Amino acid sequence: MIQLSTSVCLLGGLFLIAPVLMAPTLANMCRPLKTLNDSLSHRRRYMKHNFPINYTIRVHHKEIFKLSNISKMRLNVEELDDLVLQRLWFQVNQGVLKKIIRVMPERHPSRPYTAELERRFRDAEGVFVESHPAEVFQQELPDTIQDIWDGLTEEPDRVPDSSWRFASPKSLLDNFCHTMFCLFSECFASTEAPQDCVAMCPPSLVEDYDDVQ
Ligand SMILES: *[C@@H]1O[C@H](CO)[C@@H](O)[C@H](O)[C@H]1NC(C)=O
Ligand SMILES: *[C@@H]1O[C@H](CO)[C@@H](O)[C@H](O)[C@H]1NC(C)=O
Ligand SMILES: *[C@@H]1O[C@H](CO)[C@@H](O)[C@H](O)[C@H]1NC(C)=O
Repeated sequence: MIQLSTSVCLLGGLFLIAPVLMAPTLANMCRPLKTLNDSLSHRRRYMKHNFPINYTIRVHHKEIFKLSNISKMRLNVEELDDLVLQRLWFQVNQGVLKKIIRVMPERHPSRPYTAELERRFRDAEGVFVESHPAEVFQQELPDTIQDIWDGLTEEPDRVPDSSWRFASPKSLLDNFCHTMFCLFSECFASTEAPQDCVAMCPPSLVEDYDDVQ
């Protein structure tokens, strides 16, 4: 009898704990994402100070992926899984990093930083892919998301002029960081509800705070 009640009690305890634990797939992501966060904390120095004032690069407008986009999509797209938004986050930011690297000459002082950032991003992507069954990546996307995806993967010379925007490398990395904190919030703030996208991405660790994006 005593044994039975002990195990019931244990089970009860486990049930209480279970919902608080993170899904294991997401837990795997936390280490590489924290490494990315460390790199991103130097973004002002490398993405602003080492570039001419008001320097911008040309990106597809869908590569401007901010917290407001996430809120809008969560409101307007039915049955939108966070996993879909996370896949989109990887797709968008892989293009963003590629475009930033492309404008930097071989000896640009921010090149090693950006190359390392990209390496860390790839590591995180590798863990992300490994942590989910392959079928997940074959699942059909909601139409709105598929349209964004198609825009992002369009051949550059087939993209209409009206789809290009100019954005500073720093603002692109700000978006990168804010949306990362939002979409992987379990890794960054265990107390926040995942739907709560407060921009917790820390400001870049350098002296001035002039630009607001
Ligand atoms: C940079 O942009 C700001 C705001 O648009 C403008 O006021 C400033 O004159 C620009 N600076 C340079 C050097 O072009
Ligand atoms: C985010 O919103 C802006 C402005 O509404 C839009 O131009 C951009 O395409 C959106 N990004 C994505 C990924 O949908
Ligand atoms: C992100 O990086 C900054 C700078 O290194 C650090 O202060 C902050 O604690 C990091 N956040 C997390 C959740 O690891």
